[in-house]
Amino acid sequence: MSRVYHPSDYVVEKSLLPSFDEYKKMHKKSIEDPEGFWSEIANEFYWQTPYQPGNFVSYNFNIEKGNIFIKWMEGAVTNVCFNLLDRNVRNGHGDKIAYYWEGNHPDDYSRITYKKLLSLVCQFANALRENGIRKGDKVSIYMPMVMETIVCMLACARIGAVHSVVFAGFSCDSLAERMSACEAKVLVTADGAWRGEKLLNLKQMCDDAMQKAKTKFNHSIEKCIVVSHLKRVTACGKLPDDLSSMYNWNDDVDVWWHDFVEGQSTICPPEWMEAEDPLFMLYTSGSTGKPKGVLHTTAGYLLHSATSFRYVFDYRDKDVFWCTADVGWITGHTYVVYAPLANAATSLVFEGTPFYPDNDRYWSIVEKYKVTQFYTAPTAIRSLMKFGDGLVAKHNLQSLRVLASVGEPINPEAWHWYYNVIGGGRCSISDTFFQTETGGHVLTPLPGATPMKPGSAGFPFFGVEPALLDEEGKIVEGPGEGYLVFARPWPSIMRTLFGDHDRFESTYFSKFPGYYCTGDGARRDEDGFLWVTGRIDDMLNVSGHLMSTSEVEGVLTEEPRVSEAAVVSKPHPVKGESLYCFVILNEGAKFDDDLVNCLKKLVRGRIGAFAAPDVIQYAPGLPKTRSGKIMRRILRKIAIGDKNIGDTSTLTDPSIVEELFKNRPQK
Ligand code: PRX
Repeated sequence: MSRVYHPSDYVVEKSLLPSFDEYKKMHKKSIEDPEGFWSEIANEFYWQTPYQPGNFVSYNFNIEKGNIFIKWMEGAVTNVCFNLLDRNVRNGHGDKIAYYWEGNHPDDYSRITYKKLLSLVCQFANALRENGIRKGDKVSIYMPMVMETIVCMLACARIGAVHSVVFAGFSCDSLAERMSACEAKVLVTADGAWRGEKLLNLKQMCDDAMQKAKTKFNHSIEKCIVVSHLKRVTACGKLPDDLSSMYNWNDDVDVWWHDFVEGQSTICPPEWMEAEDPLFMLYTSGSTGKPKGVLHTTAGYLLHSATSFRYVFDYRDKDVFWCTADVGWITGHTYVVYAPLANAATSLVFEGTPFYPDNDRYWSIVEKYKVTQFYTAPTAIRSLMKFGDGLVAKHNLQSLRVLASVGEPINPEAWHWYYNVIGGGRCSISDTFFQTETGGHVLTPLPGATPMKPGSAGFPFFGVEPALLDEEGKIVEGPGEGYLVFARPWPSIMRTLFGDHDRFESTYFSKFPGYYCTGDGARRDEDGFLWVTGRIDDMLNVSGHLMSTSEVEGVLTEEPRVSEAAVVSKPHPVKGESLYCFVILNEGAKFDDDLVNCLKKLVRGRIGAFAAPDVIQYAPGLPKTRSGKIMRRILRKIAIGDKNIGDTSTLTDPSIVEELFKNRPQK
């Protein structure tokens, strides 16, 4: 049994929630009296029309009883941007720093107050309106971590447009697919950006994506708004003398951000939104077929993101919060943008990588800004551990109080390093489990209140009622393992998949009627701690990036030399998981380095660099059952070289397994 760590006096002393009993009391109330619990929080926000008592939450989680729906605060009217900015300015936080911005190069940095942020948002919102963007219109965002990204998201929220951010590490194909699927009218990007010494040619990616959207999906972007970023930051590598040679420029579509906002007023009346009006959508990989446009709405998302931020990070006035996630992911949406601003917090936005100019960049930033809460991913922690403790010791990290982790299970070794070396043994660690679909944290320790076990996501957040189910859907009581599901909605759960409510119902609600199914497995130990064990569907989690095996297989079989492909996950010391691909070739095709390189390049190009396979193996055949199903369990064993494969009697051709073992690349 693993050791229990109790929050240190340093954390408990002034903690918002100083005991486990207090947590249990609040959690109980949030389940027994959701209206009483959440309406107290709702009262801190501004409502143009208040909610109607008695109608705080309504839902159906049981597909056998009809359509799945979830509604929070029906009848209430508000605007999220107004709550994040105007409300805080009115409450005297106008001159407070909303964000410190730290560029890729340490010489590039700036700061912005709440007042200034509000005026920039209003200008951009007015410009969008002047260009015909209205409530319900979609705006795709393909941006580096710069202030305009946040300004754009908030401007959309202000006028009721629905933003769809696409992580700028995605390929132009992925961008084309996502912006076409959401029917975006506008695309917002930058000319380019530096990641370490690597130049990202963002506008050119957008040019290609717009072209592909037109030819492949018959979708046209009306306006592409481009931030001129490269000129204002330090070049970290070679740049062409003439920046305009890097991309195409189409005067009918493309417009510079600075021209777009020129002359716009810094006052912009918000669009008043119904509680269940869409706020944003964010595409996430599905285990089959196209990416899923996860849709989040107004009031519930505001309540849950604000509340989780406050308790999970124990945020206090004057703290400096830093979440290292890119805004292209849900962690960035909720914990870089919406949640900190909802709490009038000061946070940090970092454009660069942990490895530039040196491998101690994170720690030098923590020291420079006296960061109090640091929130990152296990893959980052593991990659930084490799450089030893010396690099950390060079920096004063005394300001830190709460550390947090997200994206995949954190292995105990990384947890201990984080706790002892980064946190000096005095900080709490919040191992936060959530998903694009959950909008905010659903399982997590709370600093000051919950005891911690390295690798466990602890206990449910307020309003969240988890259960573990066995294959038959029977509840696993007490210690045991099963499918991780949730028995009721918390305010920020997704409401639908954009344009495909059937897929929403079948993906999340059909396997176990009455429950939202996460797709993850989990274990409950004898002390009631929950341990997320990872995906139990055909999804892979590489460095916290979720992708489906079938998505990668689809790309591999685009190569004319490949007839069939099967992709499985192989454990990786830094990335958590990596892609191990088996390919069957067409008649006459040769398996050689050229093919391997082509396939790796193809996957990078189609999906993004983070999806590049680690291993491609030649397969004369695949282990299939008589019904034609690939036995991935066996392929996973082959990937790690474990000959302990168990029963193979259901295979049509068991001899193929031995051949695959023989063919393993010798690296
Ligand atoms: O498998 C779980 C894993 O990441 C998945 C969600 O991925 P995504 O929607 O991209 O959102 C990532 C950021 C929230 C989950 O289904 N996951 C996320 N956090 C944890 C985790 N697995 C274990 N422990 C976590 N703390």
